[in-house]
Amino acid sequence: MFRTGNFLYDRACEIAMSTTRERYDAWRALGLKLDLTRGQPGDDNFDISNSMLTILDDKSLVTPSGVALRNYPGGIAGIREARELFAPVLGVQPDEIIVGNNASLALEGNVLMWALLRGVPNSAAPWCKGDVKFIVTVPGYDRHFLMLERLGISMVTVGMNANGPDIAAIEKLVASDPSVKGMLYVPTYSNPTGDTTSQAVADRLGAMKTVAPDFTIFADDAYAVHHLDDSPPAHPDLLGAAKKAGNPTRVILFGSTSKITFAGAGVSFLAGSKQTIAWISELMGTQMITPNKVEQYRHVLFLSRYPGGIAGVMKAHAKLLAPKFAAVEEVLSKELGGKGLARWTKPKGGYFVSLDTEKSVASKVVHLAKDAGVALTPAGATYPFGQDPNDRNIRISPTRPPLDQVRKAMEVVAVCVQLASE
Ligand SMILES: Cc1ncc(COP(=O)(O)O)c(C=O)c1O
Repeated sequence: MFRTGNFLYDRACEIAMSTTRERYDAWRALGLKLDLTRGQPGDDNFDISNSMLTILDDKSLVTPSGVALRNYPGGIAGIREARELFAPVLGVQPDEIIVGNNASLALEGNVLMWALLRGVPNSAAPWCKGDVKFIVTVPGYDRHFLMLERLGISMVTVGMNANGPDIAAIEKLVASDPSVKGMLYVPTYSNPTGDTTSQAVADRLGAMKTVAPDFTIFADDAYAVHHLDDSPPAHPDLLGAAKKAGNPTRVILFGSTSKITFAGAGVSFLAGSKQTIAWISELMGTQMITPNKVEQYRHVLFLSRYPGGIAGVMKAHAKLLAPKFAAVEEVLSKELGGKGLARWTKPKGGYFVSLDTEKSVASKVVHLAKDAGVALTPAGATYPFGQDPNDRNIRISPTRPPLDQVRKAMEVVAVCVQLASE
């Protein structure tokens, strides 16, 4: 081979001309230590919100609405200012949202436990008195699956399409099986496919006939405002659709600031109709006198003072995250495009890329990547019980590592897909 004398260029040409196995071995020999498993913000994302750490002082001990931050009074639903600030994130009114503590998953688990022990507003009996099945979308979020599994709730899977969950399959399930009590899924920039539910699908979810009168949609809108570009899809109005169809307690929305400010160190939200809010406030009020209002007011001050508010913060995040997603797309297109070996999503928001190998080789790809120093989420994690029946789906999380590491890791993943598919 002709050599230019430029070591890096010559090495790249050498690698490009060798067999897939040789290329894989060359990557492996580098002793990489890269990680694409963590759906977490980068430290540069967290830095955007650092001024929040010192934004409160002893002159801001009472909110403009007159609530003393350091004491109990104020109610279970959170301070007025936080409810007003976060209601638009989920597309609801301030009296349709509860602002809670640091984790939306905790709110989801809490409502599920109350439903099991007491039932929801339209229940004839607590859910735990009979079989309970939930519809989940696949590929989906492993923590949702694990929570349902641990609570003893069976799961029925439906596919996730570009316009949201497979609505025809859902309509069929809820029309025939009274033990199908609910659904838990991600309506915006779904984890891991990045798909967003269209309003047409939201309308059908809100209006569909269900044999269980207490069928409840738990919509985990964790990525409601997490756009990667300036032309986001319309936010689906699931609650509005259900209310319009005469099912005001069918939809409960969840969200948090985990990927707006600090992960696990921010505030969470639960939204629903006024009936839902009254029902759950009464139950949650037995467990807690008030959420952490100091944290809530810190968020209010920081997010309302930031140029452009929450949308401005999200744009700052997108500026850091979009190049990482672009790198994933660029490497996969260059290495796998047109080869018929894999398909992958090109999300317009959220935190993940979902890759499906054409052959049943996802576990093999993950294994090869690990041997070459690139950690991927275990194959199967995007399905209940960690079992992908087709062994094809791999969740890629490009948000946390620095851009150069994302690119390198994706080069390895792409070579692994090629090698595993041989
Ligand atoms: C869909 C989804 N919901 C919830 C969470 C966790 O949110 P929180 O920190 O508010 O519990 C994540 C984190 O990755 C997620 O992807």
